[in-house]
Amino acid sequence: MTSRIISIVSGKGGVGKTVTTINLGLALHQLGENVTIVDADTTVANLGLQMGIYSFPATLQDVLRGTENINKAIYTHPLGLKIIPSSISLDSINADLSKLKHVLNDLDGLVLLDSPPGLSTDALSVLNASDEVIIVSTPELQTMANALKVARVALSMEKLVLGIIINRYSNEKYEMNPTEIMTMCDAPILSKIPEDINVKRSLFEKTPIISHTPFSPSSIEFQKLACDLTGQKYKPPKNILLKKFVARIKTMMG
Ligand SMILES: Nc1ncnc2c1ncn2[C@@H]1O[C@H](COP(=O)(O)OP(=O)(O)OP(=O)(O)O)[C@@H](O)[C@H]1O
Ligand SMILES: [Mg+2]
Repeated sequence: MTSRIISIVSGKGGVGKTVTTINLGLALHQLGENVTIVDADTTVANLGLQMGIYSFPATLQDVLRGTENINKAIYTHPLGLKIIPSSISLDSINADLSKLKHVLNDLDGLVLLDSPPGLSTDALSVLNASDEVIIVSTPELQTMANALKVARVALSMEKLVLGIIINRYSNEKYEMNPTEIMTMCDAPILSKIPEDINVKRSLFEKTPIISHTPFSPSSIEFQKLACDLTGQKYKPPKNILLKKFVARIKTMMG
């Protein structure tokens, strides 16, 4: 099958990989792409939880164990996005991710892999299963230094590093600025996703931010990034300024 497999990776944990996988995936789906997101962070298995889905007929662990075909583990979310979840049960944490590359062979279209952080054996298996890599980092020096390590390992595995997403960006003096980041990592910056309180609100409501608050600053950045990745031109919706203004008022009112 023909597919484009992109891993969403990071040097440190908690920087926004799962939020990115879900929202970039949904934005790509809304552009008409055939996209599947995969929870390849089998130990933590947050992706289903962040989307408000707690039980599935089959999971990635079943596929890795060889008891289910990967197509049986695809769940279609009410928003239309296809998901391959991981199990949250304790006996599923020893999944053998070395088989991931092999089981993904049966998928077609665009596949986004939500990875564990760092360079653990599992994280390396996820990198190995992908053709292309997107690194997510927050704009702090230590986090970026870890991201740089992952970028180097990905390059040594002959993966195409598409670039870095700077998440939770606030353009403050104490943050690294985009020029410093580009120089340090020697990779393009794909997007700057702002620190956005609506991300936390959307997580609380178990709805992806681009569906929860489509005109919030972070949603617009996810939508632009989806266009860039597929070579489409971002077309702002009608009355974008008014819609952004209304989103801002709603944000301030909580
Ligand atoms: N743009 C943002 N604005 C505000 N908060 C954010 C943003 N992105 C992520 N967060 C916060 O960061 C938390 C961690 O995000 P997420 O779960 O996507 O990280 P992760 O890299 O997948 O973590 P892990 O390595 O543990 O899997 C979220 O629960 C949310 O509270
Ligand atoms: Mg995660």
